[in-house]
Amino acid sequence: MRSRPLAHARGTVPVDNEKIDKEKRYDMLLEGKKGLILGVANKQSIAWAIAESTAREGARLIFNYQNDRFKDKVEKLAEGLEGAKTFQCDVGNDDEIAAMMKGVEAEFGELDFLVHSIAYAPTEELAGEYINTSRQGFATALEVSAYSLVAVSRAAAPLMKNGGSIVTLTYLGSERVVPHYNVMGVAKAALESSVRYLANDLGPRGVRVNAISAGPIRTLAARGVGGISKMVEAHREIAPLRHATEQAEVGDTALFLLSSLGRGITGEIIFVDGGYHILGTLAPVS
Ligand SMILES: NC(=O)c1ccc[n+]([C@@H]2O[C@H](COP(=O)([O-])OP(=O)(O)OC[C@H]3O[C@@H](n4cnc5c(N)ncnc54)[C@H](O)[C@@H]3O)[C@@H](O)[C@H]2O)c1
Repeated sequence: MRSRPLAHARGTVPVDNEKIDKEKRYDMLLEGKKGLILGVANKQSIAWAIAESTAREGARLIFNYQNDRFKDKVEKLAEGLEGAKTFQCDVGNDDEIAAMMKGVEAEFGELDFLVHSIAYAPTEELAGEYINTSRQGFATALEVSAYSLVAVSRAAAPLMKNGGSIVTLTYLGSERVVPHYNVMGVAKAALESSVRYLANDLGPRGVRVNAISAGPIRTLAARGVGGISKMVEAHREIAPLRHATEQAEVGDTALFLLSSLGRGITGEIIFVDGGYHILGTLAPVS
């Protein structure tokens, strides 16, 4: 496990080597915490950035992979993290969710956090006009991208014996019209509403539920949405921070929400988009 020389950075006086080691261990935000991260497809996945941020702070992690197509890549990535495990799970299948949670319980005994970084809509629904959304495309997008948060939260909650934190990923297309995002915007609206209902259900058990609304990032899922490159470019040009959103920025915000630093926050949607969503006009005016 990597650790940082924070004892020195904070100006505390190291007494001996043992003391220094102890200080380093206790400085890790997620030392001894156990997390389940759903949604790694490859190194570019937002879920992988969250894995890197949380592992850096001492968390032990379990990952899912959706099916055999992703197995090798996810297993290879997990091999690089001490004590990490992987299980196959398609979140559209309740039996697979139950089997994965059994595996998580056998491996960890309990869970401290859950990351849901999963979305899907058939490609043909992510181009053209929303009015042409098919009945089946609507059902699929809502089931995989929104209902799955409810299903995995319900399955994970009994393992959160000492409270916990759940984080999911959303996008501005839930509240504003973004060309091509179409039914995925409607699914994200349902996801964000689910965050609030789940936060209210699970709050009395000490479990927090939040979402991060990320700016556009070129990932496997994002490549299915028409015009992603133009959206990334627009962020670079006009977002207040004048740069495109990076996976690591999302990873570190997730770390904050998953750790005790975020202990007073639940039912919230936090934007990590360089401030793009605050703009009232997208036309460059000078
Ligand atoms: N990339 C962006 O621009 C962006 C912006 C805001 C929000 N998001 C959200 O972030 C999340 C992660 O997406 P990403 O951009 O990292 O792309 P990604 O392709 O790396 O991750 C999407 C993951 O969803 C998984 N998935 C899809 N259907 C599944 C199913 N039935 N069962 C299990 N897993 C399934 C895929 O296997 C993949 O691992 C998504 O919810 C996405 O909507 C992405």
